[in-house]
Amino acid sequence: MTFIPEKQIGTGDIVLSVHEKKYLHKVIETSRMSYGPMTKEFESRFRKHHKCDHALFCNSGTSALHMSLAVLKEKYNWKDGEEIIIPALTFIATCNVVLHTNLKPVFVDIEPDTYNIDPKKIEEKITDKTRCIIPVHLFGQPADMEPIMDLAKKHNLQVIEDSCEAMFVKYKGKSIGSFGNISCFSTYIAHFLVTGVGGICLTNDDELAIMLRSYMNHGRDSIYLDMDADKGKKGSELASIVSKRFNFVRLGHSFRATEFEAAVGLGQLDIVDEIITKRKANAAFFTKGLQPLTNYLQLPTQKEDRDHGFMMYPIVIKKESPKTKEQLVNFLEENKIETRDMVPLLNQPFIKDLFGDIEKDFPVAENVRKNGFYFGCHHYLKEEEKQYIVDKVLEFFSE
Ligand SMILES: Cc1ncc(COP(=O)(O)O)c(C=O)c1O
Repeated sequence: MTFIPEKQIGTGDIVLSVHEKKYLHKVIETSRMSYGPMTKEFESRFRKHHKCDHALFCNSGTSALHMSLAVLKEKYNWKDGEEIIIPALTFIATCNVVLHTNLKPVFVDIEPDTYNIDPKKIEEKITDKTRCIIPVHLFGQPADMEPIMDLAKKHNLQVIEDSCEAMFVKYKGKSIGSFGNISCFSTYIAHFLVTGVGGICLTNDDELAIMLRSYMNHGRDSIYLDMDADKGKKGSELASIVSKRFNFVRLGHSFRATEFEAAVGLGQLDIVDEIITKRKANAAFFTKGLQPLTNYLQLPTQKEDRDHGFMMYPIVIKKESPKTKEQLVNFLEENKIETRDMVPLLNQPFIKDLFGDIEKDFPVAENVRKNGFYFGCHHYLKEEEKQYIVDKVLEFFSE
């Protein structure tokens, strides 16, 4: 019998199972909603997975990136207008946070096969104003971190890994998130671990960890960053905390998440092995099923020296294809398969207002933006949905 999906096959999904509900019930039973045991356990387990010393759970990947730039700017005394290197193809938030912190994004073209920042093109963009590189591990695959870290060392630059599209993957045997000064993750719906909204900063720098916790709490004094900080304290120690509860040492934000998001995250961490295995198996299924079309479609490349987490399944239409991306995407959407463009950035109206029509200067990113799209590869996809996606793409090209 032919399978017809009842609802759209999304690029991401969340099904709250017994795992998430177990932790959510604990939050409901205790009525503790702000930074407490759930968040602390989630942070602890997440950082151990990535072999880092500190994790800070906040309300989005964008907030995680924003506060990372802000605290590095403070620590290293960067001036407004100094330069931050980012890829010419990434989700808009990578660029927005640079602008929000009064710094200047400097774009670098991407590699045609991984779609990540091309390390060979970074050095020509480094000036005496460059302060930081933000490589993005796009679509679930780590950027080429070795040459990037070599350049950062050579030019005394800081590094923030934008890991919002990747988790639990290694590059040359080392976990992503453990290369830069700080790395940032997103747990928004359709991401690898889903908590509704959420973001995580990882760092091995003790000072940056304190600054980040302060920054996401309105810039509070580190003596009172946790409502349990005064519990069990007496005498002068208690008096000191009480007097500094409303002490603000930097211009901060309210970027906090709640115990509910952390509880969902803990439930997802309980099934993380299943998530990783299923995403890889889904990608292998798509790659096998779409093999007859490799003259027309560039399927994802998996580099030997790194994992691929497959946050989604990205495809770029080759120039040999008799049909366009728009035709394929419209066909899939009409058949209830959700698609997304491969992260438009430099063609966006406000970016053009700020920087002019610069997309043509980044031909690889431009080609991927124009001819690339993705569909879901998430762990909730059912066998019949995966087969349906493959069948529909094959059908489209057979017509
Ligand atoms: C590369 C990249 N950076 C940053 C973000 C922002 O994450 P959030 O949506 O949690 O703010 C995203 C979100 O999709 C992303 O893909």
